[in-house]
Amino acid sequence: MRFFGQLCGLTGAFWTALLAGQVAVADIGLTNINDPEQIKNAASIAAYDMMSYYDGNKTGQIPGKLPGTWWEGGAMFMALIQYWYFTGDDSYNDVTNQGMLWQKGEHNDYLPSNWTQWLGNDDQVFWGLAAMTAAELNFPEQSKEVSWLALAQGVFNTQVPRWDTGTCGGGLRWQQNSYQAGWTTKNAISNGGLFQLSARLARYTNNQTYSDWAEKIWDWTQTTPLMNNKTWTIADTTNVDTQCTDHGDLQWTYNYGTYISGAGYMYAVTKGAQKWKDGIDGLLKTTFKTFFPQQYGGNIMSEVACEPNMKCDRNQDCFKGFLSGWLAFLTTVAPYTKDEIIPKLQASALAAAKQCSGGSDGKHCGRRWFQSTFDGTQSLETQMSATSLFSVQLITQKNQAPLTSDTGGKSKSDPNAGLDDSQAPTGNGLGIKITTGDRAGAGILTALFVTGWVGMMTWMIRGG
Ligand SMILES: *[C@@H]1O[C@H](CO)[C@@H](O)[C@H](O)[C@H]1NC(C)=O
Ligand SMILES: *[C@@H]1O[C@H](CO)[C@@H](O)[C@H](O)[C@H]1NC(C)=O
Ligand SMILES: *[C@@H]1O[C@H](CO)[C@@H](O)[C@H](O)[C@H]1NC(C)=O
Ligand SMILES: *[C@@H]1O[C@H](CO)[C@@H](O)[C@H](O)[C@H]1NC(C)=O
Repeated sequence: MRFFGQLCGLTGAFWTALLAGQVAVADIGLTNINDPEQIKNAASIAAYDMMSYYDGNKTGQIPGKLPGTWWEGGAMFMALIQYWYFTGDDSYNDVTNQGMLWQKGEHNDYLPSNWTQWLGNDDQVFWGLAAMTAAELNFPEQSKEVSWLALAQGVFNTQVPRWDTGTCGGGLRWQQNSYQAGWTTKNAISNGGLFQLSARLARYTNNQTYSDWAEKIWDWTQTTPLMNNKTWTIADTTNVDTQCTDHGDLQWTYNYGTYISGAGYMYAVTKGAQKWKDGIDGLLKTTFKTFFPQQYGGNIMSEVACEPNMKCDRNQDCFKGFLSGWLAFLTTVAPYTKDEIIPKLQASALAAAKQCSGGSDGKHCGRRWFQSTFDGTQSLETQMSATSLFSVQLITQKNQAPLTSDTGGKSKSDPNAGLDDSQAPTGNGLGIKITTGDRAGAGILTALFVTGWVGMMTWMIRGG
């Protein structure tokens, strides 16, 4: 997903100019975390400013496609689905429906042919997780359209065949195609993403196949540096060239979020198995220690790898929103975690409310929730994170776990979704097993890819 990060500055400047005419009324107005009206109001302001970056529903634009990024569309709709669920405000349901369905792909697996050739497993899975969220929260479905659950299953069905036992004894590679840089990497977010999706499908459908996959991915992750089950740390990346013994150790909230959340759903599936409780407890402890630094009081979430030097890229500015949402729902599938998690979410929201005091309306959200004055950054991504953080505060009001097929979830299962997609990348993108002799060829293809990519970006900048 990192290749598509170049256009943010451009669009930011564009929108700043556009919004400059707006009346400035400072303050997002959230000072009492026990007041649902204040929370709803803050969430609605954050969502409104988030949607000021979206024009996919305008004439001539592509629904669900954001400038310079594809995966963030899925992430944005996930935030909007949660926003609707918690606040009851359906202002964005039409755009969400339109975008989620437009990008679903020709085979209901979030591999739309326009974009597939450039996508990583992590890009695809975010749309799958958004669809899963829609299913679990009974987000309205269109009568003649594919169900949200089937779309999540389509992502599962096309990712599982890419499980690569040829290197490192298993695991998903970062990329889906061998001509992409990042093909030799196995990373936490791709594997954690499929792990979480499998666990949620298992809980929703009661189908053992999904639980088996969740457990398999979790166990495999622990055989690599991606998850250390003694220190409960998660590395971002490892590489097949070393048989997954090296590790890129940058610490990111969303990596922890995918695995903790998945462990939470498995905890629910297994009615509290010790294995999953140990995983939740271990990872939660590291998460608190790492991402809620003592220097900011110990309760305010921070993306520690890039906030101190203010070098977060647009992808990274989304991550805290994911951890917020996943921790909030964890308190419902593993309720014993509530007393630890809620105070941290609440302190983060009260702190972020102060940070959301910039931009033309005096309500745009910056990046550093721990800083009580606007830090000068404003973007779709900082708005996405804030929208999620504010919305999920209402979990204490709802106090209800995501639905399943047994508890009122209406989305219909289609275990075969996506299986008819003969174009779906199967792992090496060439339909053949890569041998050592092919490596040089892969290098050339990577060079071609880079050239093609530069060409495409040029086209995108010109074409807007
Ligand atoms: C696009 O969606 C926004 C909500 O984000 C809405 O206000 C606007 O009217 C929509 N535009 C069109 C052309 O449908
Ligand atoms: C694919 O690209 C075409 C041409 O730009 C566009 O009309 C269509 O909406 C795109 N589809 C998706 C799913 O992005
Ligand atoms: C920790 O991971 C190792 C390596 O995969 C595994 O052998 C061991 O069983 C795991 N321990 C627990 C408690 O899961
Ligand atoms: C369970 O899921 C697997 C994998 O998608 C599928 O083959 C099987 O038909 C499903 N079983 C039921 C009862 O839906």
